[in-house]
Amino acid sequence: MNRSRKLPTTYYNWLTMTGAYVSSVSLMLILLFWAVNLIFDFAPNPYLGIVLFLVLPMILMLGLVLIPIGVIRTNRRIKRGEDTGRPPSLKIDFGKPSHRRAVQVVGFSSVILLFVGTIGGYQVYHYSESVAFCGTTCHEVMKPEHVAYQNSPHARVPCASCHIGGGASWWAKSKISGAYQVYAVLTNKYPTPIPTPIKNLRPAQETCEQCHWPEKYYGAQQKRYNHFKYDEQNTSWPIDLLLKTGGGDERSGQNFGIHWHMNVGNDVEYICRDEQRQEIAWVRVRERKSGRSLVYENTENPLTQEERDTLEVRTMDCMDCHNRPSHIYNSPDKAIDLALSVGRIDATLPNIKSISVEVMDKEYSTEPEAFDSIATGITNFYAVEYPEILASRQSDIEEAIATVQDVFSKNIFPEMKVRWDVYPNNLGHLTSPGCFRCHNENLVATTGQTMHTECTTCHSILSQGSGELAEMASSPEGLEFKHPEDIDEEWQETLCSECHSGIQP
Ligand code: HEC
Ligand code: HEC
Ligand code: HEC
Ligand code: HEC
Ligand code: HEC
Ligand code: HEC
Repeated sequence: MNRSRKLPTTYYNWLTMTGAYVSSVSLMLILLFWAVNLIFDFAPNPYLGIVLFLVLPMILMLGLVLIPIGVIRTNRRIKRGEDTGRPPSLKIDFGKPSHRRAVQVVGFSSVILLFVGTIGGYQVYHYSESVAFCGTTCHEVMKPEHVAYQNSPHARVPCASCHIGGGASWWAKSKISGAYQVYAVLTNKYPTPIPTPIKNLRPAQETCEQCHWPEKYYGAQQKRYNHFKYDEQNTSWPIDLLLKTGGGDERSGQNFGIHWHMNVGNDVEYICRDEQRQEIAWVRVRERKSGRSLVYENTENPLTQEERDTLEVRTMDCMDCHNRPSHIYNSPDKAIDLALSVGRIDATLPNIKSISVEVMDKEYSTEPEAFDSIATGITNFYAVEYPEILASRQSDIEEAIATVQDVFSKNIFPEMKVRWDVYPNNLGHLTSPGCFRCHNENLVATTGQTMHTECTTCHSILSQGSGELAEMASSPEGLEFKHPEDIDEEWQETLCSECHSGIQP
């Protein structure tokens, strides 16, 4: 049989033939893996993705590239008269030892090629998933996330566990959008700050819930919130809360509490008006077991028909409250309270809280500029207001400056324009509306009820204040909240976040 009739003669050269061979073998393997994947449902395993989406396609591409190269080369040789254009003999005769050896060599080298390619690709994959790659390769761009992450409860959880999760298709999706991100970084086209919410973040069921079992939440947990006032004495005002974090599952005997939203038997859906999901205008709750279904609407400013038709209805998941599980940018108020409470800043320095917060809050364009300004700002303050303290307690002041600089570098990133107020934290309600986005008086059900707004729905106060003003609860219902500063009944009528924005209120 004369094979030269089927394809142009220029195709019959070693390079093209090898290319065709390599690409058809890898194509066959890809199809085989797909079939295995479909039959045995390997989806949660990201490692199959490596082979499927990276290694084999790479080899396939290599093979495909070899084909035209061989053709072009042969064409040139024919033109130059070095080649007759007649196909080389490609008959394989297993009777001939030299042919047998050639087949063995080709077969063996293909196996080696695939093997080396697979291992190499696997390494590339592994590196591309590592915290080092995600967090530091694009150093400047990911710095805020990487730094905040290292100071978070998830410092040992790889970026990919939350951002990618298992399964080949998510892996491929992330690499496709990743390729654009690399381009954006190389060409300086990335946005500062990086906008959130991340639209293609994977649903919490497939990330958070792989480690945190939603049925597990029961009981309550006690947490202390250390506050220092903005007065000369930096008066300490700790608040101990019993957070009612239960509600995950009735099998645990307790199905009331904050994680009620995540009870597998309940669905909470909502519509919001803005990108950042802060302005919630419509909420529907459905309890599957009892069949109860209730819609809450913003009565002051109801959704228009057009908004109803166009806005997305989102089902609430972990990320609607825990939107900062790992990249926690503390406000100056909170960060300085933390440093004071553990003694990294000496709380006996007069007005140290207010001046530290003030110097952190200025607009800076680079970190070195901020560091300089923090040092001169604090020094000048004491030089003017308390010259005798500047002279006698120089080392305390220097330590305070170093701590404020360190606290700044972990929470504020001028180069990326990242600060606490760029990414509102939805977990509480002090510096952004958080829980009060839904739990407020404006969202009213057809029955006339509002979503629980009483302070004790979510927590009880076990103790508050210090010194002579300190109060301790004597019953589990806790204390009535006493606002640390006398502002009359203001705290009951106005959202905390309207006065508290992370700096001095
Ligand atoms: C515990 C889960 C988790 C881990 C681990 C994690 N992230 Fe995130 N990340 C999130 C969530 C949740 C968001 C916010 C999504 C939103 O608001 O839409 C986010 C947001 C981001 C953003 C958008 C900007 C911002 O600050 O919100 C970037 C960039 C980012 N992460 C990068 C990383 C990098 C790099 C790592 C590893 C060093 C990492 N993430 C580790 C859960 C995680
Ligand atoms: C790979 C496993 C893993 C994934 C995925 C994961 N977490 Fe965690 N999470 C942990 C570990 C480990 C801790 C620390 C537990 C401890 O310190 O006791 C933790 C702690 C927490 C805490 C407690 C924080 C605190 O202050 O003590 C919260 C809240 C939390 N995770 C929420 C989330 C959310 C929301 C997601 C999804 C965006 C998520 N986690 C994804 C493993 C994970
Ligand atoms: C998207 C809207 C929405 C947000 C945001 C929200 N909730 Fe809720 N919450 C609801 C709805 C709806 C209910 C149930 C109302 C009903 O029973 O009709 C509810 C009920 C509750 C309950 C009572 C649960 C029970 O067992 O009956 C608690 C506690 C609670 N929420 C705490 C919180 C906390 C804490 C936050 C902030 C971290 C928060 N919620 C944020 C919508 C929301
Ligand atoms: C309605 C808001 C809300 C939702 C939705 C929510 N949480 Fe929470 N969660 C809270 C609050 C509030 C706390 C306590 C805050 C604190 O410790 O500062 C908490 C605490 C936690 C903790 C630490 C305490 C504990 O009991 O172990 C973990 C872990 C956690 N949540 C995981 C999750 C996961 C996973 C999901 C999704 C399945 C989820 N949460 C959904 C509000 C929520
Ligand atoms: C819908 C639930 C909910 C309601 C209602 C609620 N809180 Fe809270 N509150 C929270 C959560 C959740 C936190 C914890 C936030 C965190 O851990 O960051 C919190 C934290 C606090 C803190 C400590 C803040 C800090 O960061 O130091 C105070 C004080 C407080 N609440 C007072 C009140 C008062 C007063 C009311 C009534 C007017 C109230 N809360 C109503 C959910 C609620
Ligand atoms: C009308 C404005 C206003 C409202 C509303 C308000 N606060 Fe305040 N808050 C202040 C002022 C002013 C101070 C005093 C700051 C200082 O000089 O120490 C303060 C101080 C505090 C402090 C101690 C110092 C600090 O900043 O850490 C806490 C804690 C606090 N408020 C919690 C709350 C909570 C929780 C709510 C909502 C339930 C709330 N506040 C509502 C104005 C307000």
